[in-house]
Amino acid sequence: MYHKFYGLSENPFNVNPDPRYLYVTEHIQEALACLRYGIENRKGFILLTGEVGTGKTTLLNKLLETLRQKGIASAFIFNSRLNTVQFFDFMLADFGLPTEPRVKSQMLMRLNQWLLERYQAGGTTVLIVDEAQNLSLELLEEIRLLTNLETSSEKLLQIVLAGQPEFEQKLSQPQVRQLRQRITLRGKTFPLAEDELPKYLAQRLHVAGWDGRSIFSPRAVEVIQKYSCGIPRVINLLCEHALISGYASQQRNIGPELIMELVKEFELDVIGPVATPARTSAQEIKAREQSASEAGLLMRKLRRSH
Ligand SMILES: Nc1ncnc2c1ncn2[C@@H]1O[C@H](COP(=O)(O)OP(=O)(O)OP(=O)(O)O)[C@@H](O)[C@H]1O
Ligand SMILES: [Mg+2]
Repeated sequence: MYHKFYGLSENPFNVNPDPRYLYVTEHIQEALACLRYGIENRKGFILLTGEVGTGKTTLLNKLLETLRQKGIASAFIFNSRLNTVQFFDFMLADFGLPTEPRVKSQMLMRLNQWLLERYQAGGTTVLIVDEAQNLSLELLEEIRLLTNLETSSEKLLQIVLAGQPEFEQKLSQPQVRQLRQRITLRGKTFPLAEDELPKYLAQRLHVAGWDGRSIFSPRAVEVIQKYSCGIPRVINLLCEHALISGYASQQRNIGPELIMELVKEFELDVIGPVATPARTSAQEIKAREQSASEAGLLMRKLRRSH
């Protein structure tokens, strides 16, 4: 809808983890290199952590794309609130293996056999678990046991565990020390630095078919930086709503006042840059965005402007 008004072919600030939109910062580049290195060199466990909304899932989707291109088999588990059998069920199904009978020991045997065959044929196999902060200690132990699937010299399954900083705390509990000791590589995602924000915006606009005409004024960008703390999900939320509001009031140029209105609407000035700014505002925003659809918001803005 509004994208045409700004000369775009699609909405540039969706909150989906779409890898086409990935803006590769130095940190992202490092994290991707770490994941690829760990997988290709069969390092077993690799950890990816980062604040809420800083691009972990987007980066994992990018990784999955490259793994597919290289013919590396992968399973991606993004629902981490599973019991053991459900977990095995998901994993086997994603690897394209039969899931019946749903008995753990038999599922494990099928997986082991398949991993060995792949290994003997020179193939690499990866399990990626997102939202790992929600994994139960029991499931974490099951995942650790998967690294026992090995030849005398190499791991048959490479495992990427991605999660919010709480996951690091979980890993520091004594019950999971065996898993912690097996983590050989660690990647991290970070909020954007001040000088990265204009490039991030330009990159997303370009992917959405932008013709290069100015949309966000430099002052608007400053306000976005200040209240988003550089968290991409919060940036997207502010920008998306700014474009919707701008369209409703037929403003081609978005200035700082409009951004400030949104900051107030989302109370980013109240729960924003405090002691743990990124966490507080990003988690809050995630909860709110789930209840606010674009259509509903657009209707509200349109009503308000008439
Ligand atoms: N480097 C980046 N380039 C482009 N977009 C990004 C980048 N980092 C994050 N985003 C965007 O920010 C939003 C949130 O990213 P994503 O869902 O990947 O974060 P996350 O770290 O997985 O969050 P959570 O901890 O809540 O799972 C998405 O719309 C995503 O496209
Ligand atoms: Mg995520």
